[in-house]
Amino acid sequence: MNNLLLEVENGIALLTINRPKALNALNSETLAELNACLAELENNEAVKVVILTGSGAKSFVAGADISEMVNATPAEGRKMGLLAREAFGRLENMPQVTIAAVNGFALGGGCEISMACDIRVASENAKFGQPECGLGILPGFGGTQRLARLVGKGRAKELIFTCDMISAEEAYRIGLANHVVPQEELIGYCKAMAGRIMKNGPFAVTLAKQAINTGMDTDLDSGLKLEANLFGLSFSTADKKEGMTAFLEKRKEKHFIG
Ligand code: CAA
Repeated sequence: MNNLLLEVENGIALLTINRPKALNALNSETLAELNACLAELENNEAVKVVILTGSGAKSFVAGADISEMVNATPAEGRKMGLLAREAFGRLENMPQVTIAAVNGFALGGGCEISMACDIRVASENAKFGQPECGLGILPGFGGTQRLARLVGKGRAKELIFTCDMISAEEAYRIGLANHVVPQEELIGYCKAMAGRIMKNGPFAVTLAKQAINTGMDTDLDSGLKLEANLFGLSFSTADKKEGMTAFLEKRKEKHFIG
C-alpha cells in the first residue's frame, strides 16, 4: 500500500492514512487501497476494533484530493464518489467497531470518513468542516447524508452552506465528536476505549451495531422488531451463557468466543 499504514496488535487494527505532503487528502489510489484493506480487515476475526487516523500532528484528512479533482469530468467525479461510498460503507457496516481518531483537520472527505466510523474522538487541535460549496461542488462522500443524521438537518445545512470550520470543542457540543482529548493522548485514549469494548461479547457488539445502523434508517416499529429478532439471535450464543453465568457466579473474568 502506498498511502496507508496498518498495524494489528491485541485485537486492534490501527489504520493510518499516510499522505502527509497533501495533509492526507484522499485521492483515488488511497480510496482504492482503503477499500481493499477494509475488505480484508472485515474478514479478519482476530481484529475486533479498527482505529482510523491520519499521519502527522496537523491533519486527519484534509478532504478529497483537489489536485486530482480539478480536471476531473462529471463521470470521473461520480466514479470517485462511488468508490468512497463503497469504502466508507465498509467502515460503517463492518462487523468490527470503528473509531476515528481525529488528529487535526477533518475537512470535506475527512469529516465524511470520520462520520462513517462508529465513534469519533478528536484531539484538541482538530477542526471539522465541509468546505465543498466553496470549491463549487457539494459534499460527495456522504456529507449531506451522514452529517444531517448525526447533528440534525439545521446544523448540517449551516455547516455545508457556510463552509465554516469548527473547533473540536464545537464538534463535541453538537454531537459530531464523542470526546476531545489532548493530541498526545489521542491514540492511547482510543486504544483504552477499544479495550473496554473488547471486554464485551464481540458477537453481541456486532449485532448491536447492526441494530443501531439499520434501525436508524427505518421507522421505530421496524427498528424495534429488528432489535427483538437480533436480541433473540444473541440468546443462541455461547457468549450469552458465559456472560450471564459469570454474573451469577460473581466472576469478573469472562471468556467470550464471539
Ligand atoms: N487536496 C489536495 N491537496 C491538499 C488538500 C486537498 N484537499 N489539502 C491540503 N493539500 C495540500 C496543499 O495543496 C499543500 O500542498 P503544497 O505544499 O504542495 O502546496 C499541502 O497540502 C499543505 O497545505 P496548505 O499549505 O494549504 O496548509 P495550510 O496549513 O496553509 O492549510 C488547510 C491547511 C486549511 C487544511 C488547507 O490545506 C485547506 O484548506 N485544504 C483544503 C481543504 C478542503 O477544501 N477540503 C475539501 C476538499 S473537497 C472534498 O473533500 C469533496 C468531498 O466531498 C469528498
